[in-house]
Amino acid sequence: MAKFPELVFSGVQPTGNLHLGNYLGALKRFVEMQATHSCLYCVVDLHAMTMPHDPETLRRTTREVTAAFVACGVDPKKNVVFNQSRVGEHAELAWIFDCVARLGWLNRMTQFKEKAGKDREAASIGLYNYPVLMAADILLYRATHVPVGEDQRQHLELTRDIAQKFNNDFAASIAERGWGDAFFPLPEGLIQGPAMRVMSLRDGTKKMSKSDPSEYSLIALTDDADTIAQKIRKAKTDAEPLPSEVEGLTSRPEAENLVGIYAALADEAKADVLRRFGGGQFSQFKNALAELTVAKLTPIRAEILRLNADPGFVDSILADGARKAQAIAKPNMDAVKDIVGLIR
Ligand code: TYM
Repeated sequence: MAKFPELVFSGVQPTGNLHLGNYLGALKRFVEMQATHSCLYCVVDLHAMTMPHDPETLRRTTREVTAAFVACGVDPKKNVVFNQSRVGEHAELAWIFDCVARLGWLNRMTQFKEKAGKDREAASIGLYNYPVLMAADILLYRATHVPVGEDQRQHLELTRDIAQKFNNDFAASIAERGWGDAFFPLPEGLIQGPAMRVMSLRDGTKKMSKSDPSEYSLIALTDDADTIAQKIRKAKTDAEPLPSEVEGLTSRPEAENLVGIYAALADEAKADVLRRFGGGQFSQFKNALAELTVAKLTPIRAEILRLNADPGFVDSILADGARKAQAIAKPNMDAVKDIVGLIR
């Protein structure tokens, strides 16, 4: 297959407060990628409409997530930071992919099943179609690498399936127009590190999630120091001391989660964390974890609050990002139209 220049794309939904799972699974890694790659980071407002939403809240949270990107260290000058709906080609390409993706593929998507709940008939078509729009987000830029948390793995596999089928279905037209044997890359998910799946602080078998009704289940990026310390102190644990080796975390989901969070925040391996804290009591480890979390999140919180008070600045980032994104999206979309036979 043709070689594609490396390009990073990732997205975050503007649905409520971002939490430690979003930070460790995504935002922290966005910042790491910008040192070595060209990156597009998108606030996916169209995805946030797939569940019932309030218009004013959507506008506010779109700005807040943008502020959080910047507060975490994403540089809007170096990267393309924008909101999805600003670049109409996302929705346009999603339609074309609707005609490529198969019903059977979407029927297998577990996130739809979870989000739709028992009354699947009452779910929006948008929620069902969500992964196709996500494939369009990534492939519109012909992105090759996608840093995300573990929960997005299945959606990335679908993205690759769509890219592959498009390349096959239109192989002759793609070659005829000089694109070689593939127009779209098969993007690779970068699902790595000790915190690719941060779990709830109340239940180590459940993902830390914005939609969890218990506020003690998650640490929000806007929590103050006292709240963070209290949530970590109250986090569920088991009665055993910490093990000294990683194997000892098996079947101990709460212990594994807290050690993973520490490791990710400290940029260490779990084994190093256990070498230091293994054999000790949880209370001692929790104090160290609270201290580390407060140290890492306090400056981010301060910057989020500062940027939230400056919506004009945040809007200028989004406007500038949309222009840069469009400059890549438009020629790619034109090429797709030519490939599939649409007159433009
Ligand atoms: P979203 O908004 O649910 O989450 C944003 C990012 O945070 C990661 N994440 C987690 N990582 C570790 N532990 C957790 N508990 C945790 N919770 C969330 C997610 O994996 C994600 O990386 N479908 C995407 C948004 C999207 C997208 C895209 C992503 C739309 N288009 C194109 C990449 C590329 C989503 O709902 O993320």
